[in-house]
Amino acid sequence: MVELLDRFIGQLRRSPPSLASMTLPAPTPDDVVIVTGASSGIGAEIARELARRGHGLVIIARRQGPLDDLATELTNSHSIRVEVIPADLTELDARRAIATTIAERGLRVSGLVNNAGFSTKGPVASSDPDREVSMIRTNVEAVAHLCSLFVPTLVERGAGAVLNVASTAAFQPLPGQAGYAASKAFVLSYTHALRGELRATGVSCTALCPGPVETGFAEAAGFTDDETKALPGFMWRSATEVARQGVDAMVKGRPVVIPGLPNKLGAIGGYLAPRQLLVPILARQHPSLQ
Ligand SMILES: NC(=O)c1ccc[n+]([C@@H]2O[C@H](COP(=O)([O-])OP(=O)(O)OC[C@H]3O[C@@H](n4cnc5c(N)ncnc54)[C@H](OP(=O)(O)O)[C@@H]3O)[C@@H](O)[C@H]2O)c1
Repeated sequence: MVELLDRFIGQLRRSPPSLASMTLPAPTPDDVVIVTGASSGIGAEIARELARRGHGLVIIARRQGPLDDLATELTNSHSIRVEVIPADLTELDARRAIATTIAERGLRVSGLVNNAGFSTKGPVASSDPDREVSMIRTNVEAVAHLCSLFVPTLVERGAGAVLNVASTAAFQPLPGQAGYAASKAFVLSYTHALRGELRATGVSCTALCPGPVETGFAEAAGFTDDETKALPGFMWRSATEVARQGVDAMVKGRPVVIPGLPNKLGAIGGYLAPRQLLVPILARQHPSLQ
């Protein structure tokens, strides 16, 4: 068992030799990294981390106010170019318009961070069908669509990096958040496969799989403070730390990064555990299924 775990961690950390040279290009005044969901939480911190390293940015979310504030903060503190594109990523046309706006503004894309996402909470039997579809459009459809729109330009220039934000929920089914966990399993699988396709193109693809992070995510999903606090403190990570580890992994072209040892071990357990044993336990524990 210990040997199996060692091998699993090794696979997560090691890049095959042919992929080792892939990385995010060094920043230039003409290049930008696209960051979705940058109006709060992990996305805002990823934008700050990239700005600290000198990268120009295109920041995207629905709320323009927080995006404008972040753009002002980063332009003033790092003398970089920051472009704001307000967009609702559930909309196919809004996603197409992002590519058009970037081309019209003459921006050269060096990286793409698909971070925007949210979770619903509760059993499918009492779910809001429209909200479930919005979640799949944001967490799944937008990730695949934006990769389809921007990966060709990265491949054409022979350099670039993609960072897709999944979750430790990607490693096992999660009753009570069935659609969310499945959406993140899609992101993880898609990222691995895209990485395989990008072999020897100079473009990397990385999945960031956080456990619980201190952001507005839990509240937006409808978890109460007591439900949130029920998760042990040692699992929690700050958005700053998660963003730093995500950008580090993106720069180095790593396949997967799971911030925090307890979350790595949890992901390994979730990945390896037989479904018929694990799923009933998770169903009993989920606060929305009590
Ligand atoms: N926090 C956690 O515990 C945790 C754990 C694992 C994975 N994650 C993942 O981390 C990512 C970021 O979440 P977070 O924790 O930083 O939560 P957050 O603070 O709620 O941020 C979510 C971001 O996504 C954007 N967004 C949501 N729906 C959108 C839409 N339709 N169109 C455009 N943007 C949209 C939001 O911006 P607007 O509202 O302005 O549109 C916001 O910027 C998500 O993919 C989430 O699944 C979070």
